[in-house]
Amino acid sequence: MTEPREIIGRHWQASANYLSISTSPISTFHSPVSSYGHRSRADESRLPSKQLKPFATEDIKILLLENINKTARDILDKQGYQVEFLKGSLSEDKLIEKIRDIHVIGIRSKTQLTEKVLREAKNLLAIGCFCIGTNQVDLEYARKHGIVVFNSPFSNSRSVAELMIAEIISLARQLGDRNEELHRGEWNKVSNKCWEIRGKTLGIVGYGHIGSQLSVLAEAMGMSVIFYDIIPLMALGSAKQVSTLTELLSMADFVTLHVPELPETKNMIGKEQFLEMKHGSYLLNASRGSVVDIPALIEAMTAGKIAGAALDVYPNEPAENGPHNFDRVNTWAKDLRGLKNLILTPHIGGSTEEAQSAIGIEVGEALTRYINEGSTIGSVNMPEVTLRSISQSQENNVRIIFIHQNRPGVLRQVNSILGDHNVDKQTSDSRNDVAYLMADVSDVSFNEIKSLYVSLETLSSKILTRVLY
Ligand SMILES: NC(=O)c1ccc[n+]([C@@H]2O[C@H](COP(=O)([O-])OP(=O)(O)OC[C@H]3O[C@@H](n4cnc5c(N)ncnc54)[C@H](O)[C@@H]3O)[C@@H](O)[C@H]2O)c1
Repeated sequence: MTEPREIIGRHWQASANYLSISTSPISTFHSPVSSYGHRSRADESRLPSKQLKPFATEDIKILLLENINKTARDILDKQGYQVEFLKGSLSEDKLIEKIRDIHVIGIRSKTQLTEKVLREAKNLLAIGCFCIGTNQVDLEYARKHGIVVFNSPFSNSRSVAELMIAEIISLARQLGDRNEELHRGEWNKVSNKCWEIRGKTLGIVGYGHIGSQLSVLAEAMGMSVIFYDIIPLMALGSAKQVSTLTELLSMADFVTLHVPELPETKNMIGKEQFLEMKHGSYLLNASRGSVVDIPALIEAMTAGKIAGAALDVYPNEPAENGPHNFDRVNTWAKDLRGLKNLILTPHIGGSTEEAQSAIGIEVGEALTRYINEGSTIGSVNMPEVTLRSISQSQENNVRIIFIHQNRPGVLRQVNSILGDHNVDKQTSDSRNDVAYLMADVSDVSFNEIKSLYVSLETLSSKILTRVLY
């Protein structure tokens, strides 16, 4: 088997790296099998995959900022990439200086990858956001310039669900208040309005990744679970879907919110909804701060309608840890802090070692799949495209990746370039004005690879050409 390698091009890069070929170590990565191609899936799966590799892997330079979890570093190191790891973030000037030279950058929420920074990223193929959100990246600019962005939206669902269970019990037993009193030296042994959660009704709003995990945990604790979601969903265990939010609010002893931040979910729980809730019920929000109207919550708690609440997210959240930072960004913060049986946490629902480790694995593997095989599965700014692996016996097959402007006639031009060869499998998808094409071409000689690459590079629609072989 010949060593697989890559040719890559960018409009600003002329043909640097073009045919800069060296030996690559053996990788352990196998891309997922899809259903295309002349060979049956069963036949293909019996054959070992050809290990496609970009250049020599040691040529791939990766910069990991913000103390990204060791799980990710291990995955990337194992591929043989050049990985530089920094515990902190970088100033804009330093970031610009560093980003010029690297192929992949891994960040968390502090690093701002703005257009100004990305403009300098002449060699950048991919960005790994080792977190949930991607607001810190100019996704649009990245997409238009063929830079694929990955994140990990669901690796911390279990952590959030577990926090909800802890808080439901804490609110039912007024643990926050007893703890705070005893820290002050006050002994206050009471059972008035303290409850078991067994037999109580939990109303889950948004039955997605977190809501459904919570449903299972809550039933195991002896709760009855109802949920409201805008789409009909398969209930887990004995949970029951209700058809309106009003119905849920009128039945639930505890209401937990797990919806996304959308115009429709802004102030989803406000004055009117607090009136619809049961007297003495509890509200927990670990979704997004905009979902609850905080002044209305303060009013409902002061009036005794709501017996307790837990908030992990807020309409404005401080950018940095530190004393008084919460009060500075929210006018009602002082009023909140004065309320009894109210648990306030600083957006830590998903902050566990397990979640960080899972995020490291998910994003690390997505980056590896993209670099080695061109698969964009899990990307937030590109169409999700993949092809099954090339098998080892298909020694002279090459994989072509062509990111291009999505306009009429491009596929015809690409296919006329590929047309003299046997296109073993091909797929393409678009997202707004950018399209992503993958094609595996068989029996291509070394000189033909060059000519395919050069021909694709000359197309005016080209954003990025990669040839893996
Ligand atoms: N506190 C934290 O640390 C933390 C961590 C992870 C996620 N989150 C937040 O939790 C929320 C849920 O996350 P997830 O991973 O479960 O999301 P998800 O996308 O898996 O589930 C969301 C569910 O809400 C439903 N939904 C959407 N609009 C709705 C509406 N108007 N009414 C009722 N249901 C609606 C969707 O159909 C979906 O089933 C998100 O806002 C996310 O940002 C917070």
